[in-house]
Amino acid sequence: TRKVILDVDTGTDDAVAIMLAALHPDLHLAAVTTVSGNVPLPATTDNTLRVLDAIGRPDIPVHAGLAHPVARRGFPGQTHFERDSARDMHGTSLPLPTPVTAAREESAVEFLLHTLRTTTEPVTLVPVGPLSTIATVLAADPSVRDAVDEVVIMGGAHAHGNVTPSAEFNVWADPEAAAMVFSAGFPRLTLVPLDATHQALVNRADCARLAGLGTAAGRAAAGLITRRIDAYSAGHGVHAPDSAPVHDAVCVAYLVRPEVITTRPVRVEVETTGALTVGRTVMDLRPNATGEPNARVAFGARAEVLVDLLLATFGE
Ligand code: BDR
Ligand code: CA
Repeated sequence: TRKVILDVDTGTDDAVAIMLAALHPDLHLAAVTTVSGNVPLPATTDNTLRVLDAIGRPDIPVHAGLAHPVARRGFPGQTHFERDSARDMHGTSLPLPTPVTAAREESAVEFLLHTLRTTTEPVTLVPVGPLSTIATVLAADPSVRDAVDEVVIMGGAHAHGNVTPSAEFNVWADPEAAAMVFSAGFPRLTLVPLDATHQALVNRADCARLAGLGTAAGRAAAGLITRRIDAYSAGHGVHAPDSAPVHDAVCVAYLVRPEVITTRPVRVEVETTGALTVGRTVMDLRPNATGEPNARVAFGARAEVLVDLLLATFGE
């Protein structure tokens, strides 16, 4: 089994990623760390606890991370300190019962530092929210990257963004943090951008099959993905009728079914100053690209692999 730490801003798609990581037999989800993003930090932490309770895994520790970007007072263009969006897609609280467990006392930064300093087996780090917590850990001790066999990030885009024409939400929400993570020198960094997640669409028929599994995870996933499909259908940006991307789940799926994505090595840098382009992941796709690739970037993704995996994992 692979030792995994998920870093989330739960979030409906984060929720499906958590369920997959917690329930797949080949993965050992050692902890979940939270960061503000889709909703403010108290809500991402509470939502994470809700998801783990709902699937009968309240034993998995949850540690709260950063409530704000590493170098800004709020989202780009905003002035308040705490990032504070309750985006339509997610709602503030996920539609799951109030959790009975609490987050651990130890902060996500402290937890990650001591775990990565002392672990005897490599850790796979899967950040699927803004990169504020991970960047803070790297700033405190860059050597912790040596304990990480692979970082799998949901973020960025090379065609178009979702929060602005240029930028994808997770990178835009803390561009300086993302820039630090991309330049940290991880031996293996896999990036799953929007261009890929928008190809792995889950539809209403898939949700019916998930609900039909009759398990807690199947029912929860069906409800959460249906909520995403409703939001996309209501104008968030329809890619295909009655379907939605479940971005973060693609990263976890990749850990056990690497064929869910197709990647190529690319040099990725993050724009931190452009008035129109802040948060853009600039990918050097030129045939005569200069600079060493620092990431394996997903260009394609296969919905049927993702859906089969969700059905198999949530059916047990
Ligand atoms: C990313 O931003 C959040 O909305 C999702 O949870 C995902 O991680 C997609 O841009
Ligand atoms: Ca997320």
